[in-house]
Amino acid sequence: MIKRIGVLTSGGDAPGMNAAVRSVVRCAIARGYEVYGIHDGFKGMYEGQNIERLYRKSVSEKMGRGGTFIGTGRLPEFDQVEVRKKAIENIKMYGIDALVCIGGNGTYHGALELSKMGIPTVAIPGTIDNDISGTDFTIGFDTALNTAVEAVDKLRDTSSSHRRCSVVEVMGRDCGDLAMWTAIAVGAECVICKETGYDLQEILDNINKAAKSKNHAIIIVAEHMIDVNELAKVVTEKTPFGARTTVLGYIQRGGNPTAKDRVLASEMGVKAISALVDDDLTGVCVAQQGHDIVTMPIEDALNGDDVSPVLEKYKVFKMLW
Ligand code: F6P
Repeated sequence: MIKRIGVLTSGGDAPGMNAAVRSVVRCAIARGYEVYGIHDGFKGMYEGQNIERLYRKSVSEKMGRGGTFIGTGRLPEFDQVEVRKKAIENIKMYGIDALVCIGGNGTYHGALELSKMGIPTVAIPGTIDNDISGTDFTIGFDTALNTAVEAVDKLRDTSSSHRRCSVVEVMGRDCGDLAMWTAIAVGAECVICKETGYDLQEILDNINKAAKSKNHAIIIVAEHMIDVNELAKVVTEKTPFGARTTVLGYIQRGGNPTAKDRVLASEMGVKAISALVDDDLTGVCVAQQGHDIVTMPIEDALNGDDVSPVLEKYKVFKMLW
């Protein structure tokens, strides 16, 4: 019988993680369980130094705050069984007998291994990358997208004043969602991501076509794809626009979560508690599928290939050009 539930956030922080922790805490306490916050993710679980009881009041005024108030961290060594054993010993000292882990792919791997080692564990998708299979959206993606769109809107003001092309790099790890959604939302001329590939001649053709009717152009590039400075040089040489680069970077991870992320986080927290205490599930993760919030095996989320329909969105992007 579960009595004490531990909650942690792991990997890169994402706006809405606080709302998810709040949801887990409030929902579990309302159902008669005690909740403990394990600070700094799996790293904190392994170090065992900063584990504290969370009360209803502990999560007051956290809903709208970016970042994660219980901290996060990356611990690649968590794939070692001895490291996980030590982490489990630490939480057992607090009487924690079940876990909710909020994060991305790395967190899912850790959560799955913990569940195999006998700790009832449920994962919640929290990452700006939207790169988890089986869920339409991850917590944080909508906020990061809105941050990127707002930034590019500002860049457009200056680039159109100077007759320039803005080459903007966005995050996303290996997933093109953030790039593609941003490109559509700002009406970019070009988008470059893993799913679409990179064709320099096509890019130059598009920019030259834009130069005939517009005083600016925008190219959105997903991180890890190309050197944006090199591309800007070529665009400057081969088109009428002078090109300038902007790497949006970590600003995309910050900021108050959008209403959409807050609601998604709240729904997912409730579902995670229900999966643990009502359905006795372990090794599962929460996902949004259409209008439904469901659970599915973490293994399926890790092995699935339906990460995101980027190419479907690309068809729309091209039709708008
Ligand atoms: O997974 C979120 C993310 O921000 C990715 O978009 C990015 O590639 C990565 O984390 C950066 O990681 P770190 O915080 O370790 O620099």
